[in-house]
Order: sequence, then C-alpha cells, then structure tokens
Amino acid sequence: MKIIRDKAELRKLVRDWHRTGERIGVVPTMGALHAGHLSLVDAANGRAERVIVTLFVNPKQFNNPEDLDKYPRTEEDDAKKLAPYGIDVLYVPGPEQMYPDGFSTNISVAGVSEGLCGAARPGHFDGVATVVTKLLLQTGADFAFFGEKDYQQLQVVKRLVADLDIDVEIIGCPTVREKDGLAMSSRNLRLGDGARAEAPVLQEEMQRAADAIAGGTPAAEAMAALRSALEAAGFGEVDYAEVRRDGDLALVEGQPDSAARVFVAVWLDGVRLIDNVEIGDLRSLAAE
Ligand code: PAJ
Repeated sequence: MKIIRDKAELRKLVRDWHRTGERIGVVPTMGALHAGHLSLVDAANGRAERVIVTLFVNPKQFNNPEDLDKYPRTEEDDAKKLAPYGIDVLYVPGPEQMYPDGFSTNISVAGVSEGLCGAARPGHFDGVATVVTKLLLQTGADFAFFGEKDYQQLQVVKRLVADLDIDVEIIGCPTVREKDGLAMSSRNLRLGDGARAEAPVLQEEMQRAADAIAGGTPAAEAMAALRSALEAAGFGEVDYAEVRRDGDLALVEGQPDSAARVFVAVWLDGVRLIDNVEIGDLRSLAAE
C-alpha cells in the first residue's frame, strides 16, 4: 500500500491503471477507521481491480470549529488497519492540495441536502459535496463506496454525480453495528461509560417505531412516540426524528406508500448520534 499525498502523483498512477483497463474503486473517509469503514474497503476489493482509500478531515464540512479540532487524527493507526486489505493507495492530501489559495468553488445540492442533517448543520452538505466531487475527480474513480449510516450523504452524492455527469457508479453499503446494535461511528469513543451503555437504546427505539409504522401506525404518530421514548430513556435534545422516503428523502407523515426509513439525530453525553433504519415490510414495495 502506497501512501500518496500529492494529487499530481496520484493522477499519473490513475492514468496508468486506466490505460491498461483496470477499474478503480474509491472509499472516501476522514480516518479514525473502524469496521464500518473497513466494510466499504471489502466491498471495493470485491468490485474493482485497484482500490484507493482517501483520508482527509475536510474543514469545509464542519460547522463547528470545536468539532473539527476534536476530530480524531490517527493516520498511522489507520494505515495499520488497512494493511491486511491489500489496497493499492492510501491518499492523504493536505489542505493545500484540496483548497489551495484562491479556491472559490462551492458545490451545493438542493432538495436532498435540505432537512435532516442539512437543517441541523448549515453548510455541512455543501462541504461534503465539494470535497467528494474533488475526490472523485482526483482519483478517477469508476466506483465509489459510501455507507448507508450516512444515508442523506449517500443521496447527496448520488444526486451530484448524476447532475454533474461524473462517470462513476456510487455504491451504498449497509450500516455496520456494534454487537449491541449501536451504529459504529468514530464519535462513539467520546461517550462516557454510562452513555455508551445507554446508546443502543436509540436503535432499539427506532426499530420499534419502524415496526409500528410497518404495522399501520401513521409516521407522525410513531415519531412523536419515539421522541418521548428517547427523552424518557435519558437522551438529550432530539435534532430530528422523521420518516423520509428512500431516494428523494421526501417527508412522510402518514402511512408510507413506498420504501422509507426512520431517521434520527439525537444528543447523548455531548455527542451527536445519527442513525437510520429501514421500515422493513416496505421493502417489497421498493422492488415493485
Ligand atoms: P467518515 O465519517 O469517515 O465516513 C466515511 C464513510 O464510511 C462514509 O461513507 C460513511 O457513511 C461510512 N461509514 C461510517 N460509519 C459506518 C458504519 N457504521 N457502517 C457503514 N458505513 C459507515 O462520511 C465521511 O467520512 C465524509 O463526509 C466524507 C464522505 C469522507 C467526505 O469528507
């Protein structure tokens, strides 16, 4: 595995691969790798002849400077975790590679970026869309892998790729969870012991709400019950608890008539947790 920090060096390598017909899979990350990230690497290995993992803590997508400062930076550890996966390149661009002096372009995706985390974190998805566009172009990716853990992000990336005619296939991969059901996230490490023990209740209550909706409860009613259950269980402020349609993320308040998910962002012990779960029995509708 080669560590590359320079985009011109990367471009040269990518051109050589494409010349010989090898396809490139890319897994964009901000590092602090865990089994969720590594599942994307597995998926990339299964699909492409060449695999690049990118590691860049993107300042443009943090709307809170403290959150950016606190973000873990563990490049050496990350490289060790990737070693057994036999990838080709770990691409670690510095900020001067991504945003050189004079950088003035912003990619803003309307619609799917609005609501959910877009409403709670102004500017966040512009930052994500801008950096992902650059990473896709820099790596010449044929396939790029994103987790359903960040389902809204996945839809934003699909939209921008379609709108900007970027020749890459975006592949969504299922959320990897801890044994107790908590969705893996680098932020989980910041939870104190008590909060860590409490955190899986989020997914249990979300699943309960999803089951209720599949059983006929209107979405708005199930979301009100979910908010109360989370408050009663000791969670802090709920940024949102909503049912949204797969794909276009349209808000659902009654009974969904196509595939949909429950989405929550909630604070616990000063940490913002996000998760989403499918409303199971609707899967057959998505296939129709
Ligand atoms: P990061 O939070 O490091 O996540 C990198 C990728 O790993 C994303 O596609 C995310 O959805 C996926 N991921 C995280 N936790 C996961 C889990 N438990 N199961 C499955 N996949 C999981 O998301 C970002 O970085 C950034 O916004 C980025 C796309 C790199 C742009 O800066």
